[in-house]
This record gives sequence, structure tokens and C-alpha cells, in this order.
Amino acid sequence: MAFESELLALRREVMEASVPRHVALIMDGNGRWAEARGQPRVAGHREGSESVRAVTREARRVGVEALTLYAFSAQNWERPEDEVEALMDLLREYLLKERAELWDNQIRLQAAGDVERLPERVLGPLRELSAHTATQPTKMTLTLALSYGSREEIVQAARRIVEEGLAASQIDEEAVAARLWTAGLPALDLLVRTGGERRISNFLLWQAAYAELGFVETSWPEFRERELLLCVREFQRRERRFGKTSAQLRGEV
Ligand code: FPP
Repeated sequence: MAFESELLALRREVMEASVPRHVALIMDGNGRWAEARGQPRVAGHREGSESVRAVTREARRVGVEALTLYAFSAQNWERPEDEVEALMDLLREYLLKERAELWDNQIRLQAAGDVERLPERVLGPLRELSAHTATQPTKMTLTLALSYGSREEIVQAARRIVEEGLAASQIDEEAVAARLWTAGLPALDLLVRTGGERRISNFLLWQAAYAELGFVETSWPEFRERELLLCVREFQRRERRFGKTSAQLRGEV
């Protein structure tokens, strides 16, 4: 009861200020969370799927327009085969189970990454759900970064630019951004990593140029509605200067 009313108050407070348009999350700490409980790592990923559901719902509720989740990195293919397989199973289960929830809340699902590497049992439902949720007006875009690496993303953008035959004078920030896997999403406002590590791990390197960064100790399986709201509130208290001075932002110069 006390928890519920604290959550409501926090949500109200967050919604009274300007909510970040685009939030991205590095969902780290699943394995350690499970190991600390004497459970297999995959138990942490499973519990982490519940956090995906809770955080997606909350982001949509407070008016975030784009939520981008680092679900499987290009480097995660190197993990033990049974862990990769278990993650693919969880992704498939998620894509099959969330259909109604995403639709009812006008959430559009898409993927960012080298998705062709995904097994057909994930790629099929991913394509189906992306197509399905694109057929109605969108309140929030949920992007799952899958087989995603930011360096890989920038390399493929460069290749596309060459293949399309752009002249050097046509290559500017817009031309590059339009060829990234995140093309069309609003500028990234807030990037949070859970699980206590303080690094970006090849995630949204280009997009994070002016994002606010947040690092929290909470492991991903324990990161739920309240934790997301606390990160947004912390973001709202920061001053974003985009290279300018505080006085300029206040209109004094
Ligand atoms: C990092 O934790 C997390 C991952 C590699 C996978 C994230 C996947 C999920 C949260 C579940 C499936 C996703 C969806 C969208 C349903 P880690 O294993 O590196 O943790 P550790 O640092 O404690 O080892």
C-alpha cells in the first residue's frame, strides 16, 4: 500500500515535468542476479523479461515516445551456446506473448541490429509483430536492439552510403543518421545502464552524443517501474546545455 502510493506520487511528479522523448536501457546484471541466488544465469534473463514488461508499460504510461532496449549484442553470440539458445527462446516467448499488450497500448515494435543473424524461430515472430504493430497509430516505439553493435551499425551505414553513390558533399550528420538502424527515432535523451558497471559496451555510440547518462547499481531483474521513474526524475533535474553556457540557456546572453 505504502509502495503503491509512493509509486503514484513519483509518477505524478515525473509527469508534471518534461518527460524524455527517447530513453535507452542497457539491461545488465541478469547473470549476477541469478548466480547470487544460486540459480542458473538463464533464471536472471527470465526474471529480466518481467522487467522488460514492467518498464515498457511504465514508459508508455508516462509518455516516453521511444524506448530502446539492449536485448542482445553482436558480441553476445560468443556466449556459451546454451545461454544463447535460452535467450533466443525467451525472445520468441516474449514476441508471441506480448502481441495484445503492445497492440492495446499502441506500442510499435521494431528491431535494430543485424537481425538476419537471428534464428527463424525469433525472426519470424519479430517480422510478424513489427508489421502488425505498424498498422495502427503509434504512441510509443519499442526498439529491441538485437544482434546489435554500434560500431557494426556505423560500418553498415558507411557501406550503404558508398553503395548508394553519395558524393562527399552529400555526406553530413543527417545522411549518416538516416542509415543507422535507429533511423526515424527521436534524438536519444537518456541512456541508463543497470547492474553497476559504468560503460557503454558498443551501444548507441553515435546516438548518445548528447544523451544524459545514468548508471544504477540495481540489477536488471530488479529494475521495475519505480526504478525507471527515479532515473527519469534524476534526468529532469539535470541541465542539458548542448555545448552552450547556462547563461545562454537562460536567455541572458
Ligand atoms: C545482460 O546481463 C543481459 C543480456 C545479455 C540479455 C538481456 C535479455 C533480457 C533482459 C531478457 C530477454 C529480452 C526481452 C526483450 C524479452 P548479463 O547476463 O550480462 O548479466 P551479468 O553482467 O550479471 O552477467
